[in-house]
Amino acid sequence: MKIERVWAIYFSATGTTEKIVKTVSARLAELLGAELCVYDFTSPAAREGFPGLGPADVGVVGLPTYAGRLPNLMLPYLQSIRGGGAFAVPVVTFGNRAYDNSLAELKKLLEEHDFHPVAAGAFSCEHSFSYELGKGRPDADDLAEAEKLAETAADKIQSTSESCHPMPDFVVDGNPEAPYFQPQDRYGNKFDFRRVKPLTSDACIGCGLCIRSCPMGAIDPSDPSSITGKCIKCCSCFKKCPVSAKYFEDEGYLHHKDELEFLYGGRRAENKIFY
Ligand SMILES: Cc1cc2nc3c(=O)[nH]c(=O)nc-3n(C[C@H](O)[C@H](O)[C@H](O)COP(=O)(O)O)c2cc1C
Repeated sequence: MKIERVWAIYFSATGTTEKIVKTVSARLAELLGAELCVYDFTSPAAREGFPGLGPADVGVVGLPTYAGRLPNLMLPYLQSIRGGGAFAVPVVTFGNRAYDNSLAELKKLLEEHDFHPVAAGAFSCEHSFSYELGKGRPDADDLAEAEKLAETAADKIQSTSESCHPMPDFVVDGNPEAPYFQPQDRYGNKFDFRRVKPLTSDACIGCGLCIRSCPMGAIDPSDPSSITGKCIKCCSCFKKCPVSAKYFEDEGYLHHKDELEFLYGGRRAENKIFY
């Protein structure tokens, strides 16, 4: 069947998943001679809908890894999406530690929602919490690997007719629903992230960019220093603020960030492609 459209479909609070998904999609559209379409569901408003896909579509669907799984507050939305028999390329990003079970979880979810995954990839990117961990990634080498994923997916799509061959399963410890990664505080106690929120310094110029870009719509529209909704620590406000006015001072959070930088800062985690 002729593929008509390749969709870049993603949630991306600090922009790394967006870069990978758009690179895979653009190359795939080029190889398949298809139209390139974009559906960014990072904003709450975008999660009110989803494109109508069918068998002549490919969805390159990407999310970041949060605590070794898909961001849990995105699950209600993801449960509502439907593939209509479209091919899919599941993509996750992670911040130089590990993607654990996020890719397996995404692949399974897409299969359960009428997508046919043909190839998948996990890409190491700059960590949302840090400017050091995975600094500057995705870089040119990562984007070249993203193009390789597109080439693999195009081969699979062109070598099948109505549907695709099943992709080998990839799960951590044989369990596609493994527990979430659990950070610890400096005393080795389990650390509960949920109560942590970024603070706002006097440097704030009130431009409102943080309010407009918060994926949870959690920042008070009349006061950027007030977080009235659920903060998922995606760091959109922290990384996008033009005057670096957002910061964290929670001890447990800062310890976790320091520990991640200490344990995983001195290496370059590899990307992984499955097909
Ligand atoms: C709440 C939270 C939890 C995260 N958990 C992990 C993790 O378990 N492993 C990892 O390597 N990176 C983790 N990361 C880092 C992100 O997966 C990574 O930075 C990703 O590239 C961010 O994507 P984005 O730029 O599209 O928002 C986490 C980030 C956040 C905000």
